[in-house]
Amino acid sequence: MQTKILKIDSLNLDEKIIIVAELIRKGELVAFPTETVYGLGADAFNPDAVKRIFVAKGRPADNPLIVHISSYEQLRWLVSEYGENASKLMKAFWPGPLTIIFKKNKKVPDIVTAGLNSVAVRMPSHPIALALIKESGSPIAAPSANLSGKPSPTKAEDVFHDLNGKIACIIDSGSSDIGLESTVIDCTQKIPVLLRPGAITREQIANAIGTIKIHDAVRNKIDAGTIEKMKIKSPGMKYRHYAPNARIIVVEGEKGKAENKINELIKIYSGRKIKVIEIADKNEGAREIYNIFRIADKDGIEIIVISGIDEAGIGMALMNRIRKAASEIIEV
Ligand code: TXA
Ligand code: MG
Repeated sequence: MQTKILKIDSLNLDEKIIIVAELIRKGELVAFPTETVYGLGADAFNPDAVKRIFVAKGRPADNPLIVHISSYEQLRWLVSEYGENASKLMKAFWPGPLTIIFKKNKKVPDIVTAGLNSVAVRMPSHPIALALIKESGSPIAAPSANLSGKPSPTKAEDVFHDLNGKIACIIDSGSSDIGLESTVIDCTQKIPVLLRPGAITREQIANAIGTIKIHDAVRNKIDAGTIEKMKIKSPGMKYRHYAPNARIIVVEGEKGKAENKINELIKIYSGRKIKVIEIADKNEGAREIYNIFRIADKDGIEIIVISGIDEAGIGMALMNRIRKAASEIIEV
């Protein structure tokens, strides 16, 4: 299959959106931009098309997908009921980078939810994503458009690198604004549970609905093997994720001590291809981290050392992704 790249300007949508929507309606796979990362979309009500998402990504079948909507009417097709917390969160943060877990409507194909009786839904704010969903006439199931286990794509070239020849088309509208995947919150529980941190922060969510729980795996400082053995709520949490080929070592703790440790590591690994990442600005760090990982792969970097940052605001999401990509976490 030839994978086409279509450039679309998000401030000046053109008829190319209609062509891509037609592909979705026909059951093809299409990569499209969102404000978080690029997604790999298929008609959520076409189980054969959704199945091909899992095949193209090499994604384990027990990891459910997020369904993207452009209207509240579409929400009713997907969800059986919801309470006040979900209501408040939608009002406060949709359209935007927040995914909410609901009790699912029986009509949602099992392949989308990996057989769970809940469904993850998000109304993105990116104009191209919204227009594509609306024009397709169906909610779009879409994981991040990377090969399973690789860093999420923040540019059309990243998608092309991972999925060329496996999907019909990629919409190119430049770099993602946020650069990390959406916040995921489970609202099927009495007290909502944060399953994945993102650009909508725990502080913002707590402001909107009061008390929430943070799932243990969100701030885990343990390696991927141990996580696999834990009892896990969000199936996606158990796989090593977002990872470049290099071995990632994260150094966390008081600044001076961390710097000493990093200097020690640089000495230990002298002669190897090593890259040190220090994050000065959290938002920029979020936007760039996957890109930095991908460039490190191209450059054949063997070891990446990352200095930890504080977890206020988007810092929590950034540290979560970094720890999940890590082979080793050193606390000093
Ligand atoms: O920003 C994003 O969320 C991007 C863009 C494309 O929207 N999408 C994305 O999808 O990151 P994906 O598939 O890479 O991550 C979906 C996460 C996984 O961790 C998955 O396990 C979790 O959402 N998830 C999906 N359905 C769920 C459910 N019913 N219950 C619990 N977790 C669920
Ligand atoms: Mg993903």
